[in-house]
Amino acid sequence: MRDESGYGLQRQAALLVDGDGIAWIGNSDERSARDADEVIDCRNRLLTPGLIDCHTHLVYAGDRADEFELRLEGASYAEIAARGGGIVSTVNATRAASEQTLFDETLPRVKALMDEGVTTLEIKSGYGLDSDNEIKMLRVAAKLESELGLRVRKTFLGAHALPPEYDGRADDYIALLCEEMLPRAHAEGLVDAVDVFIESIAFDVEQGERVLARAQQLGLPVKAHVEQLSDLGGAVMAAKRGALSVDHIEYLAVEDVASLAAAGTVAVLLPGAFYVLRENQMPPVAALREQRVPMALATDANPGSSPLHSLLLIMNMACTLFRLTPAEALRGVTINAARALGMEREIGSLEVGKQADIVLWDVERPSMLSYRVGVNPCAAVMQAGRWRNSEGLS
Ligand code: NIG
Ligand code: FE
Repeated sequence: MRDESGYGLQRQAALLVDGDGIAWIGNSDERSARDADEVIDCRNRLLTPGLIDCHTHLVYAGDRADEFELRLEGASYAEIAARGGGIVSTVNATRAASEQTLFDETLPRVKALMDEGVTTLEIKSGYGLDSDNEIKMLRVAAKLESELGLRVRKTFLGAHALPPEYDGRADDYIALLCEEMLPRAHAEGLVDAVDVFIESIAFDVEQGERVLARAQQLGLPVKAHVEQLSDLGGAVMAAKRGALSVDHIEYLAVEDVASLAAAGTVAVLLPGAFYVLRENQMPPVAALREQRVPMALATDANPGSSPLHSLLLIMNMACTLFRLTPAEALRGVTINAARALGMEREIGSLEVGKQADIVLWDVERPSMLSYRVGVNPCAAVMQAGRWRNSEGLS
């Protein structure tokens, strides 16, 4: 058997849950384990922290299957966007949908993630692109949290694309976002962090920086979609501002990895979008690893570049496409994903004092979570000390 130390694996382990938190971890023959009010035999299953999907665009209406076909005929993601398709076509569908319709359409996508042990989910706005519709999206995200009992972080991504009514007036849109859209959404308590899309088909570095600066004025943490299709220098700007994460980064130059390391910014890798868009440019994984930049993984679930709802598949893709080790992949959807959300003190690892978000897996070794495709070995999930489903325990 390969060395399993990279996982921090503990055998014959016992874990005591008190209220919503982890109160004690030790060996199953110790007294604290035997004296608990209720003892559950996990029968040698693997326990991991609840999985964290730290980058999604799950709230949207409609689909983009027609663009999938266009791409197969040779059109690129950027060309489709330039023709008024892409993100803007989902904006039209999302603006037209009621809050209830949006909720109903999003629900099965969230449930698919939960079935695989996801206990914390980040959801971005960014298909509304005006105050009312951005707020509508964020309310749906908040309602998913309260109705499903999983943890949802809401990220404001008003700078995802230029809305058609602002064609040729990107600076005016950024001004509206900074002066009205973001402060309003924030005042309603709907914003945990702020994101921007810096790319030729979206906003330039200077516009992106204006949004992040405004967010920071409001006391909000920031992150950015950068270097996905080209190297504009967005990652260095975001890192200098102390961003929690920079996401995508296929085109990040090796010499710019140092600024992430210096700032403690997490590199969020999104192999689903890389796969769907048939990209060839690999993120600078070796340099990230060497300079100890924490790498997180996420589904980037969205109707265009990543229409998939499986974090286990993302772990497999990260190993197969980006050559991460299975241990790196597991850290990528647990502790490093928690860091990307600024929540590493509460979630992301099985440690005393953290939330009791725990997944029981029917696997013999942790590498099997990344190894198989299309198999869901999740046996049971505990969220904040309460079983979400415990049928799998028997
Ligand atoms: O992360 N890159 C920008 N935004 C999304 C795509 C959204 C869409 O195509 O609808 C992403 O890949
Ligand atoms: Fe994204």
